[in-house]
Amino acid sequence: MKVVEGISALRSQVRAWRAAGERVVLVPTMGNLHAGHLRLVEVGREHGERIVASVFVNPTQFGAGEDFDKYPRTLDADAKGLQGAGADLLFAPPTEAIYPGGVASATIVEPPPELANILCGAFRPGHFRGVATVVAKLFNLVQPDVAVFGEKDFQQLMIIRRLTTDLNFPIDIVGVPTVREADGLAMSSRNGYLSVDERAIAPALHGCLVDAADRLRAGVLIDDVECGTIRAVDGAGLRCEYVSVRRAADLGDPGPSDKNLVILVAARLGAARLIDNLRCNLN
Ligand code: PAJ
Repeated sequence: MKVVEGISALRSQVRAWRAAGERVVLVPTMGNLHAGHLRLVEVGREHGERIVASVFVNPTQFGAGEDFDKYPRTLDADAKGLQGAGADLLFAPPTEAIYPGGVASATIVEPPPELANILCGAFRPGHFRGVATVVAKLFNLVQPDVAVFGEKDFQQLMIIRRLTTDLNFPIDIVGVPTVREADGLAMSSRNGYLSVDERAIAPALHGCLVDAADRLRAGVLIDDVECGTIRAVDGAGLRCEYVSVRRAADLGDPGPSDKNLVILVAARLGAARLIDNLRCNLN
């Protein structure tokens, strides 16, 4: 596996692969990789011959007071993991390569507010603008045929699908189901912020989603499921930010005829902000 920091080396390698008729797959990450990230690489290999993984802790998607400075940077271990999972190139650019005009005054990509200002976007103003901006840049830099993202970040995946359509990127977006620990906790780099006691509490988040899905399928009203799940998350020892039942197709408010739903949750636990979601089909 090649490790590349510069844009011209990245472009010439990708150009050579494409000239040889090979399909290029991009897996964007912020590093500190775990089995969830590596699963994206494995799935990517089913969609093309060459895998480019990026590791870049993107400053524009972190708000003031968030964990940008302490976000774990573990590039050597990440490179080993990516090599083992079958990646062909690790792109790990310096900030100046991604934001040549400076972070504060960069040209930005603004995703539609009805997707970007709800749920996590309501609690992290500007977060999805930062995500959309860096993903558009990575798409332009790598020019992949396929890009792979996790359903763990369901709202992010939805916004990236929309950005790909709206900005006419000729890229197939592949979503990968959430990879979980044995106790149900969704894998996340931020789980590393949890103390031993908090780590024991954290799987309750997934448990609450499973209960919520059961109640929806039993015919309980959405409002009641949301309120009950917020209470259950708080009762388990987390501090719930939101629980919301949405249409899985577009994150809109579900009506009586909508059967394909997703339950999304965000909660704080110690120094960590945890998110999770569960699909729920009422058919
Ligand atoms: P990061 O949090 O590092 O996640 C990189 C990718 O891994 C995302 O597509 C995310 O959804 C996926 N992922 C994380 N945990 C997962 C799990 N448990 N199961 C399956 N997939 C999982 O998301 C970002 O970085 C950034 O916002 C990024 C898209 C790279 C833009 O900076």
